[in-house]
Amino acid sequence: MIYFFLGKGGVGKTTNAAINALKLSKKSKVLVASADPAHNLGDVFDIKLGHKPISIAENLDACEIDYKKVVNEYLKQITIKIKRKYKYLSAFNLEGSLNVLKFSPGVEEDALLREIWRLVNIDIYDNVIIDLPPTGLALRIMALPVINRVWLDKLLKARKKIIDMRESIENVSPVFEDKSSKRKNYADDAYGELKKIKEENAIIYDRFSNPKLSSIIIVMNIDKLSYAETTRALEQLKELEISAQTIIINRYTDADKISYPTIMSDIKRSFSKYSIKALRYKNGGIIGIKQIDSAKYFSI
Ligand SMILES: Nc1ncnc2c1ncn2[C@@H]1O[C@H](COP(=O)(O)OP(=O)(O)OP(=O)(O)O)[C@@H](O)[C@H]1O
Ligand SMILES: [Mg+2]
Repeated sequence: MIYFFLGKGGVGKTTNAAINALKLSKKSKVLVASADPAHNLGDVFDIKLGHKPISIAENLDACEIDYKKVVNEYLKQITIKIKRKYKYLSAFNLEGSLNVLKFSPGVEEDALLREIWRLVNIDIYDNVIIDLPPTGLALRIMALPVINRVWLDKLLKARKKIIDMRESIENVSPVFEDKSSKRKNYADDAYGELKKIKEENAIIYDRFSNPKLSSIIIVMNIDKLSYAETTRALEQLKELEISAQTIIINRYTDADKISYPTIMSDIKRSFSKYSIKALRYKNGGIIGIKQIDSAKYFSI
């Protein structure tokens, strides 16, 4: 099972990802990974973490994704692929175009999505917990399989048109008389590659949107901005046809009931179909395995 921890900056995503990772590790093998460029998973566990998962407790491994490494590796793979397929393009300063790729919109998100996908597929883990970046970037990553699907359909259609046109020309021109050409019947390199990416993309989307395989947990605090952002995030997830299951109200105090009665009743009313759990405010935060281990949720 994959658990994604989502929420506004500073609400307690990392703390709650750590608590749930430790709980799950009591009965299964768990990996908890920080996908937030501003990592603080290591700070919460009070253990230095790096890109490679390390064991931090019995049945619990942890890591912080190295953004720079992941993006560079992603660009390297694309460069190798393009160079191999389009050798003749070197005349058009292919190197220069690839350097620009680094700054293209979506590159970081796609590279990160692929790294998350790699981590959730490491077969030694029963459960993988992903501590996501704050809502905006996190939703862009979660939306990628949906956006990619639309683009890939359009690109496949465009490529099919090119192949059809090429076949028509082959039929009239004596220059292309070789009818056994491997380009026939869409057995075209670019078409095949696009189809492969489309299939991979569909597998990612199916896994992330299946509540039996993936669970989205939204962390929030009792304040107006956090409530508004949670509402928006739920709406955006709905548009992507990905559903959240649990909402964690973090840093809860008994005074909240008295100070923020409207937000409390709004939460209960609008989030009634989700499982709502609360975690009390603890002075000084929840840091280190011992404190993480003693954290307990309750219903409100
Ligand atoms: N239940 C709690 N009681 C008291 N302090 C808490 C609690 N949960 C989190 N904190 C503190 O709140 C701060 C933010 O928590 P945390 O880092 O888990 O949030 P985050 O959503 O991951 O933040 P960021 O978006 O910056 O990554 C930290 O100082 C943490 O120790
Ligand atoms: Mg964090």
